[in-house]
Amino acid sequence: MKIDLTLKNVTLPDGIVKDLTISNGLVEHSGAANVRENIIDCRGLIVIPAALDMHVHMRGFEQEYKEDWKSGSESAVAGGVTLVVDQPNTIPPLECPDLFKKRVGEALENSVCDFSINGAGTEGSDISGLWSTGALAFGEIFVASSSYGSALSHESIREILGKIKNNGALATIHAETINSTPAVGLVNHNLSRPGPGETDAVRMVEQLNVNDCRLHYCHLSTKESVLAANGSTEVTPHHLFFSLEMFKDTDPVAKVNPPIRTEKERKALFSIWDRIDVIASDHAPHTREEKSLKFEEAPSGIAGVETLLPLLMNAVLEKKISLNSVIDKTSKNPRKILDIPRNGFNKGEIADFAIFPKIQKRIMSDEMHTKAKFSAFEGKNAVFPDIVIKNGDIIYNKGEFFTSTPKWYHGRGYIQ
Ligand code: DOR
Ligand code: ZN
Repeated sequence: MKIDLTLKNVTLPDGIVKDLTISNGLVEHSGAANVRENIIDCRGLIVIPAALDMHVHMRGFEQEYKEDWKSGSESAVAGGVTLVVDQPNTIPPLECPDLFKKRVGEALENSVCDFSINGAGTEGSDISGLWSTGALAFGEIFVASSSYGSALSHESIREILGKIKNNGALATIHAETINSTPAVGLVNHNLSRPGPGETDAVRMVEQLNVNDCRLHYCHLSTKESVLAANGSTEVTPHHLFFSLEMFKDTDPVAKVNPPIRTEKERKALFSIWDRIDVIASDHAPHTREEKSLKFEEAPSGIAGVETLLPLLMNAVLEKKISLNSVIDKTSKNPRKILDIPRNGFNKGEIADFAIFPKIQKRIMSDEMHTKAKFSAFEGKNAVFPDIVIKNGDIIYNKGEFFTSTPKWYHGRGYIQ
């Protein structure tokens, strides 16, 4: 057996120290290794399974000026993410097999990380066609309109969930309710898409889900919504770490849907950390110019794939959350929900790892790899990975990227 790489002195989350030998992209053995070549000594470092970010908008097509597969995937890898799930609210949206194939082609050519792509969950979507072309899941399905996504009628939601269920696929839901409050400033933006409205939307989708389609709720922003959901739940770092009191009211940098909530609501959300299944970024990049417009005119969205794990690892170092819980919510649970083989420390698991120093640093906009090179998290403490390994290959080491062939994880309906 040819051993490609050995991670020496890896402290597993239970505190036991082992060597991991890697062969053909998989963990071959975990125990003591007697090797001399291709060794990374992990003593004093934190090794975790690299993250799967199940909610990113890699843009491209007509919005290439905001992000493309190269910039977006480099941003992912620099943050310890080796697999992203791309959202279909592109322009044009991913409603048909031909466009879906084009999207896969672009990603295969330009991505430095592995990827999956969801099919659009719109009135015009060819659900069966997209499923057999390799869509991983469907949606986000917009219950209320957001950037580049129009709300579906109740009847359409009922119908589309039926179609998704017939194909045996997963529906991912953007649950919100919009009222007539003018969304001028962060306080009013929160009132115009209120927390209780999000919970109402969750309950409404469940009533419309008469065929019992499997549901995943994207970016839930309140404790009540997480507790109301009968499906898997996803929360973003910006809803966990930001409250509207932290920003100037007119600052569009923090404008996002669902909105940043009050400090009281943020704390309540954090208090049910154990109930959340997945932390994903909802990486939604816009240019600096767009995010410098007047609040009412600026697009919603925060770029965050690169800071997802670094913010969580910082919270681990500060003993606010456990390392095991981060691994569960960024690797184990999303892979289970999406039916993707696990990465991790055990024999036979995919050898995707992120290796972190125990050093906090401040997030700097100009160090980000996303196209606009800025972060709403600027100045916050974070812990960035030194080394990222994908399928047994070192693809990133202290700022330098190495050749990496992306793997496409298609859905179960794929017909070659
Ligand atoms: O703020 C948001 N921006 N929320 C969404 O649901 C979509 C996203 C985007 O694509 O910009
Ligand atoms: Zn959304």
